[in-house]
Amino acid sequence: MGINVRLFRASLLIIAWFTYCVAGDLVSDLKAKGIEVVGPGQSSFGSVSAPFNRRFTFQPAAVTFPKKPEEISNIIQIATKYQKHVVARSGGHSYIANGIGGQNGAIIIDVNKHFTHIQVNTQSNTAVIETGNRLGDIALALNSYGRGIGHGTCPYVGIGGHASFGGFGYASRLWGMALDAITSMNVVLANGTIVTASKTNNSELFWGMRGAGPSFGITTSITVKTFPVPPSATVFLYTWDLPAASASNVLDIYQTFSLGKVPLGFGSELLLSKGNKKGRVSVTLQGVWFGSAKTFNGVITPLLGKISQKPQTQQVQSGTYIDSVAFFGDKDGKLNTTGIPDDHSAFYVKSLLTPEGQPMTQSSQRAFMEYLANEGITSRISWFVEVEEWGGPGSIVNAVPLDETAFANRDVLFLIQFYGNTFSDEPPFPQSGFTFVDGMVESILNNNPTDWSYSAYPNYLDDRLQNWQHLYFGQHYDRLQRLKGAVDPGDMFKFPTSIEKK
Ligand SMILES: Cc1cc2nc3c(=O)[nH]c(=O)nc-3n(C[C@H](O)[C@H](O)[C@H](O)COP(=O)(O)OP(=O)(O)OC[C@H]3O[C@@H](n4cnc5c(N)ncnc54)[C@H](O)[C@@H]3O)c2cc1C
Ligand SMILES: *[C@@H]1O[C@H](CO)[C@@H](O)[C@H](O)[C@H]1NC(C)=O
Ligand SMILES: *[C@@H]1O[C@H](CO)[C@@H](O)[C@H](O)[C@H]1NC(C)=O
Ligand SMILES: *[C@@H]1O[C@H](CO)[C@@H](O)[C@H](O)[C@H]1NC(C)=O
Repeated sequence: MGINVRLFRASLLIIAWFTYCVAGDLVSDLKAKGIEVVGPGQSSFGSVSAPFNRRFTFQPAAVTFPKKPEEISNIIQIATKYQKHVVARSGGHSYIANGIGGQNGAIIIDVNKHFTHIQVNTQSNTAVIETGNRLGDIALALNSYGRGIGHGTCPYVGIGGHASFGGFGYASRLWGMALDAITSMNVVLANGTIVTASKTNNSELFWGMRGAGPSFGITTSITVKTFPVPPSATVFLYTWDLPAASASNVLDIYQTFSLGKVPLGFGSELLLSKGNKKGRVSVTLQGVWFGSAKTFNGVITPLLGKISQKPQTQQVQSGTYIDSVAFFGDKDGKLNTTGIPDDHSAFYVKSLLTPEGQPMTQSSQRAFMEYLANEGITSRISWFVEVEEWGGPGSIVNAVPLDETAFANRDVLFLIQFYGNTFSDEPPFPQSGFTFVDGMVESILNNNPTDWSYSAYPNYLDDRLQNWQHLYFGQHYDRLQRLKGAVDPGDMFKFPTSIEKK
């Protein structure tokens, strides 16, 4: 009898051990390590796992809120045991919900909650920015020391994703992209090791992190070099409602202007949207002049003077650097995101980076505007297109040598974003919406040379893009694949557009 009881007890223990180790309970394991976690079934799970883009719904395995890099190592070790993929979430603004995995079953490492420190060093003109910060808060913190870096306009975008794949905004021709400002970063690798990556430490990792970071590790902080903010900044907005032919002419004038000697402190875009009636397009020229207010007319006139139609509305306003960030950042002019819940949308985006050496043909500009003026009136989604001036002689974004970072496109004239969202900002996104956005891009591609060397912007992710490896990562893809094989051979950091190991 004694033996039977002991055998019975032993087998219970074995079953318990087996359940613990193999079937196990992921959430309990995380809690046992002291990690803040929300698992499926908990009441807040829906809200902590909801993506910004509601076109997607993914069910993560757990959402964690670590407080220090060592906890991230622990999460990764537990993920290894349960054979789960791990992704970080910073601002959560990935276009294809990669911040919640881009697929079901990932463990989410939310850095937005606790990795929010910003340390500005006035001696070295650098700043250490933890990766949970959003752009609005970073702009405010740096500006309070009279400093800034290049980055995009939306205050709610997180630096974690933004600086991994680019980070382009009105100041980028002057200061570069967010990723160009990085001098070193702290990273947790797939085996849980915490490393510093810089030009001198883990230099290959440092190269890859700036352009494809989320495939290689979880970044907890970046150190950036900062730039002195200009003493004055002038924001401008001019609007027209134009027939397609005239709109196409404006685009051509803008392209010719952008290819000329535009001062680097001039950041601008053409914003295109639905016209007043069929055959027309609404055109806005907008941006910031980071120079003295007195000199603004001299800078804008060579462009504005070439457009024969008088703008229907115009707004020109001079103020400080941070005023200009707030002006384009938020309708209420607020940059501090603390305590303000993020909103959401349901959208689909495509992008084009046009080659500086091969400007868009006039026939492609014409076909594009005809398409917007006709199909754009009846489309069943709301839409806009941003044609952003990226290059032109001397642009700092293009001046960075191609192989300096993993970012693969440094010979660009325009960054064009084609943005469609549902009228209600809620799903479902209609099939005809995809067709409409596809058609915008096709109208341009079909009317440029077949060897036109366009590419696409990896911060404006398109889940339906064919050949994304080449369009996002260009000639760097091979080198990125080798790095992936070296630092993450088990594909811990896997999501729909992650680098595939060699
Ligand atoms: C409204 C809006 C406006 C935008 N405006 C601009 C703009 O003006 N200019 C521009 O260049 N882009 C712009 N973007 C695009 C934006 O830069 C990208 O979507 C960016 O990747 C979002 O970063 P995130 O941290 O908010 O997103 P997340 O979804 O949190 O992350 C995006 C990706 O980065 C990974 N990631 C996040 N944090 C880390 C980390 N700490 N370590 C490792 N990987 C991490 C995630 O896993 C995911 O793969 C805009 C996006 C939106 C929604
Ligand atoms: C934002 O506001 C919060 C309080 O509302 C404050 O603690 C924080 O310092 C502010 N952030 C910045 C960057 O100004
Ligand atoms: C960086 O590398 C140097 C040697 O090249 C080493 O002395 C130093 O400790 C490293 N720094 C970090 C933060 O890892
Ligand atoms: C973790 O991975 C890195 C990068 O591949 C490697 O250099 C390091 O030796 C690994 N550490 C351990 C403990 O395996």
